[in-house]
Amino acid sequence: MEETVRHIRNRAQDELALVADMRSLQELRVKYLGKKGELTGLLKSLGNIPPEERREAGLLVNDAKAWFEEQLASAEESLKFAEKDRLAAARRIDVTLPGFSITSGRRHPINAVLDEISAIFVSLGFSVEEGPEVEDDYHNFEALNIPPEHPARDMQDTFYVAGAETGANRLLRTHTSPVQVRVMEQRRPPIRIIAPGKVYRCDSDQTHTPMFHQVEGLLVDKNISMADLKGILEAFLHTIFGPNTPVRLRPSFFPFTEPSAEVDIGCVICGGAGCGVCKRTGWLEILGAGMVNPRVFEMAGYDPEVYTGFAFGLGVERIAMLKYGIDDLRLFFENDIRFLGQF
Ligand code: FA5
Repeated sequence: MEETVRHIRNRAQDELALVADMRSLQELRVKYLGKKGELTGLLKSLGNIPPEERREAGLLVNDAKAWFEEQLASAEESLKFAEKDRLAAARRIDVTLPGFSITSGRRHPINAVLDEISAIFVSLGFSVEEGPEVEDDYHNFEALNIPPEHPARDMQDTFYVAGAETGANRLLRTHTSPVQVRVMEQRRPPIRIIAPGKVYRCDSDQTHTPMFHQVEGLLVDKNISMADLKGILEAFLHTIFGPNTPVRLRPSFFPFTEPSAEVDIGCVICGGAGCGVCKRTGWLEILGAGMVNPRVFEMAGYDPEVYTGFAFGLGVERIAMLKYGIDDLRLFFENDIRFLGQF
C-alpha cells in the first residue's frame, strides 16, 4: 500500500506542475479525488485488506488525500493571481498616449437666430405666442381677408392635408399670420405679440425651402400709426444688423394689411454700393409689414373705428443668410456637421 500511495503522490505532483488553467486543475481534482478518483478508490479498497494493516493504510491514504487537497488549493490560488495579473496588464492605461477630445454640440444657427430675434422683441415688450402648424383654411386665409378663389392665394403655394372631403379643409400653415387671428379671437387690445415658428410652402430653390421659419408680429391699441411700426422695426433691425444700417419702407400689397410695405435694409454685403446679392440696388428685402386691414379687425370682432395696429412677418432663414453671409438656404437643412460646426 505504501508503495502504491507514494506512486500516486508522485504522479499527481508531476501532473499538478503542468496545470496552466482552472479547467485542467478541476480535471486533476476529479481524477484523484472525484467519486471514481484514484485516491477515493484506494480508500474504498481498504475494506479488502487485513484488519491489522487497515489502520495504517487508512492513515496513509487520508494523509495523501489531505496533502493533495492542499496542493490543489495552493495551485488554485496561484492561478487566480496569474489571471488577475494578466487582466491588469491587458487593461493597463498608457498615459503617454494623446487624449481624446470631446466634441460638444451647439445650437442650430436657425434656432440661435430665432432666439436672438425673440429676445429683441421680448425686450421691446412683446410676448411670445404659438399656434398650430396644421391649420384650417379659415385662420390661414379667410380671416386674413383672403377669400376662397381670391388670386392672393397664389402668392403662397400651399400644401393641403388629405381629408378635405370631410370638410376639415386642413393645410400646413403657409405663414405665421394665422396666430394673429387666433390671439385676436381670444383677447381684447392692447395686444403686443410675436409668433415664431415653422411654415410650409411648395417652394424649392437656392433661396426657398418647403419648410422655413417666420416670426410674426402684431401690435393693436388705440392710436397706433405707421410711425410706431417703423420705430419698432428700426429698433429691431439696428440691433440685429448694427445701429447704422439704413432701413426703408416700400409700398407693397398684402390682403391683411392696408397700407402694406416691404421693408428693406441697406445691403450688408456691399454697404449700399451695389453687388450681386442686392442685384445692384444697394437694398435687401427683409420682411413684409403694414397696418392691420380693418376687414381683419371686423372678422376678429374688434371695432376698427376704435383700434388700429400693425403687423409684420419676417423670414428667419433670410436673416440668418444675411447675418452669416450664406448664399444657399438649403445648407441649413442638410445637417452637414462641417457646415453647422462653423456657427
Ligand atoms: C408673408 O408670409 C406675410 N404673412 C408676412 C406679413 C405678415 C406681411 C404680417 C404683413 C403683415 P411673404 O410671403 O412675403 O409674406 O413671406 C415673408 C418672408 O418669408 C419673405 O420675406 C421671405 O424672407 C420668407 N420666405 C417666403 N417664402 C420662403 C421660402 N420658401 N423659403 C424661405 N423663406 C421664405
